[in-house]
Amino acid sequence: MPRRKQIYEGKAKILFEGPEPGTLIQYFKDDATAFNNQKHEIIEGKGVLNNRISEFIMQGLERVGIPTHLIRRLNMREQLVRHVEIIPLEVVVRNVAAGSIAKKLGLENGGALPRSIIEFYYKSDELGDPMVAEEHITAFNWANPQEIDDMMSLALRINDYLSGLFAGVGIRLIDFKVEFGRLYEGDMVRLIVADEISPDSCRLWDADSGFILDKDRFRQDLGGVTEAYQDVARRLGVLKENGAQGAKGPVLVTDNESA
Ligand code: TMP
Ligand code: ASP
Repeated sequence: MPRRKQIYEGKAKILFEGPEPGTLIQYFKDDATAFNNQKHEIIEGKGVLNNRISEFIMQGLERVGIPTHLIRRLNMREQLVRHVEIIPLEVVVRNVAAGSIAKKLGLENGGALPRSIIEFYYKSDELGDPMVAEEHITAFNWANPQEIDDMMSLALRINDYLSGLFAGVGIRLIDFKVEFGRLYEGDMVRLIVADEISPDSCRLWDADSGFILDKDRFRQDLGGVTEAYQDVARRLGVLKENGAQGAKGPVLVTDNESA
């Protein structure tokens, strides 16, 4: 059987042509990158964990009426998703000061913000994903004003859902990033959540100890990345108690035949 056609390869995922028009297969790699690709490592088992965690979160979002690209998980590393036109923006929601906002505005790491803050970043590896304002987004036609409104209200609903979900398992949602895509249905276009929502794209701190359970472990060389992601998966109930099972990269399936 011929190998599937690769549509796109990103830093942490690969997109393949799906089995039907309008679908894609999203493959989760073990690659971790940070600081605009300057730091790159293979974190064994990360892709498997992110696949499961992102599936669980997207299913939860669907249940509360927030549309996502997820159709279903296919196997350890792959999901069947809807093919959307990705809006070239990263939408970040922050509840607590950390990361770039703490640095930029001189805020104490972990300090309260007056309210949840939404930011937009233009997706461009060459430029290092610069922060942009609504003025830039509309002037350069990356999204129209209605789409900006829709992204902001969806992002806040996602924040409410995720904050509650994680609080329920003893985790503080500090901030996160989401991406949206346009889904064309006849002459209608609507925005749905795309990409992934996982410890790669969220800041997650243990509610009691403040222990970091997200990609900052990799960014800051704290070690124990896989263990932290496993902990998140286990708390969400997507990994059995013997959770290390399936978290070994090389034995995992890479295509449908072995799913
Ligand atoms: P920041 O504090 O570095 O701007 O990151 C804010 C949030 O967005 C944090 O949860 C990590 C996530 N994020 C990504 O998912 N991708 C990225 O490229 C960056 C810079 C941040
Ligand atoms: N994802 C970005 C990169 O790979 C940055 C980050 O997540 O910190 O460069």
